[in-house]
Amino acid sequence: TDPALIRNFCIIAHIDHGKSTLADRMLQITGVVDDRSMRAQYLDRMDIERERGITIKSQAVRLPWDGHVLNMIDTPGHVDFTYEVSRSLQACEGAVLLVDAAQGIEAQTLANLYLAMSADLHIIPVLNKIDLPAAQPEKFAEELAGLIGCDPSDVLKVSGKTGVGVRELLDHVVSSVPAPVGDADAAARALIFDSVYDTYRGVVTYVRVMDGHLGKRERILMMSTNATHETLEIGVISPEPKTSDLGLGVGEVGYLITGVKDVRQSRVGDTVTSAVKGAQNALAGYEHPKPMVFSGLYPIDGDEYPELREALDKLQLNDAALIYEPETSAALGFGFRVGFLGLLHMEIVRERLEREFGLSLISTAPNVVYRVVMEDGAELTVTNPSEFPTGGKISQVFEPVTKSTILAPSEFIGAIMEICQGRRGQLLGMDYLSEDRVEIRYTLPLGEIIFDFFDQLKSRTRGYASLDYEPAGEQEADLVKVDILLQGEAVDAFSAIVHKDKAYTYGVDMAKKLRELIPRQQFEVPIQAAIGARVIARENIRAIRKDVLAKCYGGDISRKRKLLEKQKEGKKRMKMVGRVEVPQEAFVAALSTD
Ligand code: GTP
Repeated sequence: TDPALIRNFCIIAHIDHGKSTLADRMLQITGVVDDRSMRAQYLDRMDIERERGITIKSQAVRLPWDGHVLNMIDTPGHVDFTYEVSRSLQACEGAVLLVDAAQGIEAQTLANLYLAMSADLHIIPVLNKIDLPAAQPEKFAEELAGLIGCDPSDVLKVSGKTGVGVRELLDHVVSSVPAPVGDADAAARALIFDSVYDTYRGVVTYVRVMDGHLGKRERILMMSTNATHETLEIGVISPEPKTSDLGLGVGEVGYLITGVKDVRQSRVGDTVTSAVKGAQNALAGYEHPKPMVFSGLYPIDGDEYPELREALDKLQLNDAALIYEPETSAALGFGFRVGFLGLLHMEIVRERLEREFGLSLISTAPNVVYRVVMEDGAELTVTNPSEFPTGGKISQVFEPVTKSTILAPSEFIGAIMEICQGRRGQLLGMDYLSEDRVEIRYTLPLGEIIFDFFDQLKSRTRGYASLDYEPAGEQEADLVKVDILLQGEAVDAFSAIVHKDKAYTYGVDMAKKLRELIPRQQFEVPIQAAIGARVIARENIRAIRKDVLAKCYGGDISRKRKLLEKQKEGKKRMKMVGRVEVPQEAFVAALSTD
């Protein structure tokens, strides 16, 4: 295709502002999906995506419109996947900035807009859901215009649900988004903006060609890993894959298949070139995904350890950001320490392990990564709180911090500041988006955000606040390890790293929560919280004698067996820690504040 006829664009939006629904409508209006085979969220292929109604993986579709080729690149909308969003944006020249006309601008609207602006994209401001009775198109058109510096009348108004305004939006993409430019005669350079594992075909790599040309049966080189492969298949998605004998030229967006089985060999952000006479310089900005949050995963039944390993291996084929290594816990046995991009990523992985692989897992409370500098200058990266060094030899501890942006109606400023201050936040600034909506920026430790910060924020603002955060380096902090002891033995899976000023309250709260969560046993169980050798809190779980068989007189065997089985059933989600039965909830007790 002549690059002059190509328009590459993406839709960026806050979660739930209707990106997938609008994409569905575009598929239908351009005729690539007929009305009969249309189903909601056509582009979200994974079941778990459809069920949760969120987009995890970006997808690209080719849409014919008015003699042009539009490539629509759907981007993930959640903070954990910001890196994938930014790579998708690099594959485009324009972005539709979609805002719910009943909600207005939210935190991820801003975050995505800033990403799009730094990628130099042409921005098309669009208000969605104008069919809703609660829509306030005039008010929010003004807000949006103020934000990007255009006239309120330039803001398009659509409904992804009814289709109103969608044709005009497509026309607008053709007339306002610049055509791609590249050097057709140069060595091939294509950006990988997505990479998905398919059971039957292996890894499917989505690319945007910047310069040159990629063809079928060509030897290609992945520039970050230096691995070479052969393109077995190359084509475009519209909306099902169609092979293209001509390959892909400048400005085109499509997929290629090389037969590799592991997405880590075909990484998002990497540059593909020809293996022979390839490009010298890769496209800028490639980053390895960096796990920010760690948690321990253990099979409830120790025999399932090999299955857990196999399941993680399989998931990793499709998820280059997932990392894990074997770990042994005195309390929980053999398991893995797993690194995630963020909390949502963690939840998704855990859910897939349980659902798709039928595993029953114990997971420990998530923690961030700490850098510990010892007095002798030695440095330690701590991804498991139980490995935090004790004794007086620590010189400095560093924790990751974020730049967090919170958007909310201005009546909640006080509540929001209180939450942030209570979590060691430092106010960076505050701006009014309109007279009743405010943007508040804070530096916040990531470790404080992962403990139910979002839930607190939502409940204190009646659901109105939205949050976005990005990593912003590290800071030194006064952190200590709090251990929890059952029957005088420290349980490694319960250890947490906490700010010194909060350590005492944390210990007291945890001991109390555990007393409530751990069922009474045949013997007394003392619970203690300690910093080093100093005990800071103590609770007791009193003993019971609950003999279920006592009630069965005589020898009614079948009744006895039934009772024993019932009792076993009740134990399923328990893990033996020493002699004590501990339920799964206890391991994540630290996550809930009440
Ligand atoms: P993520 O993929 O999770 O980022 O969400 P999304 O932005 O793709 O939102 P999605 O398309 O899933 O829509 C969110 C909700 O809004 C769904 O319940 C839709 O049915 C609804 N919705 C989307 N567009 C419209 C619209 O134009 N009008 C109305 N009334 N509802 C809409």
